[in-house]
Amino acid sequence: MPSQAITDLHLEDLPGIKPIELSKLKRIGVESVLELATSIPQDLAEDTGDKVESMSILIVRARKALASIGLLSKEFCTAADIMTRRNQIMRCSTGSKSLDGLLGGGIETQALTEFAGEFGSGKSQLCHTLSVIANIPKENGGLGGNVIFIDTENTFRPERVHQIAQAYGITDPEEILSSIFVCKIYNSSHLEFVIKNLAKYLEEFRACIVIIDSVISLHRAEFSGRETLWDRQQKLNLMLHRLTRLAEVYNIAFVLTNQVQSNPDTTFASDPMKVAGGNILAHATTYRIFFRKAGRNRIAVMQDSPYHEYGSVKFTISAKGIVDTEDTDKDTRNIESG
Ligand code: GTP
Ligand code: MG
Repeated sequence: MPSQAITDLHLEDLPGIKPIELSKLKRIGVESVLELATSIPQDLAEDTGDKVESMSILIVRARKALASIGLLSKEFCTAADIMTRRNQIMRCSTGSKSLDGLLGGGIETQALTEFAGEFGSGKSQLCHTLSVIANIPKENGGLGGNVIFIDTENTFRPERVHQIAQAYGITDPEEILSSIFVCKIYNSSHLEFVIKNLAKYLEEFRACIVIIDSVISLHRAEFSGRETLWDRQQKLNLMLHRLTRLAEVYNIAFVLTNQVQSNPDTTFASDPMKVAGGNILAHATTYRIFFRKAGRNRIAVMQDSPYHEYGSVKFTISAKGIVDTEDTDKDTRNIESG
């Protein structure tokens, strides 16, 4: 769940804020110190017509105010402070103990976790499973809170969520459906707009996890030429930067899916699959897990992590969503044919 103090931090509470600054920020829709702290100076400058430098100063002040009440790390803080903040990290089970193990206990808050993989490798199925599990109380492996589901491929299916919820023995699956806030995205500018305003939605829906399935397919489709590549990477960079800040400030989890494309430079030594988004995505996400199909099973490989060991595990997909391979033997409703 987002931090308890979030709604108490009105912009008026920011020490030293001038009335003119207050009214300008409010006019462009920035209403809380948290929103200000997670803003990008260039965006604010563009919207208010003020200088980037003055916006940067305001953002720094907002971050300091949050740090002073323990919602954010200070500019310089001790390792012990960081440890305290990291102790607030919560973990959401994926439904598979093996996959949770690979992730060090599940999907973490304060982080961006990217799942990359080929067509049909289970990325969207994982997203549906997480939508259910995130609602389950913390002591049972969930996050005990609401979900924001950003669907860019029109593959979100409430029926599947309902089925998974039933398979988890949840007595009222409709209640779960009412706690998942789905946003269908139509084009890359729409996605940028939603992400720009995400802080507001996080507060409004009190979400503990944001799932974006998938994160860059629209940008990839709309900015396909070489001449637009720089522009596309800039836009992605800005979006991911914002997500990283939101994850940190709100103590929530971000799950991003990403397609793989065939690598034209394939040699025997190189990987025939290439993760979309280039270095920008690789650097922005905290963890990158690669999904691969292996008959009726799936293999998850930890590709990129600051502290996890390189490793791989097996899982599969059943009526219950993502599960351990041994669990499917017991599950007669499994429709996998692989
Ligand atoms: P793209 O979005 O195309 O890149 O693929 P993806 O990685 O999102 O694949 P997705 O998660 O949609 O996985 C598709 C696979 O999940 C199918 O091939 C099925 O094997 C399995 N699957 C999908 N729905 C169900 C279901 O209701 N029950 C079961 N048991 N398996 C399902
Ligand atoms: Mg998918």
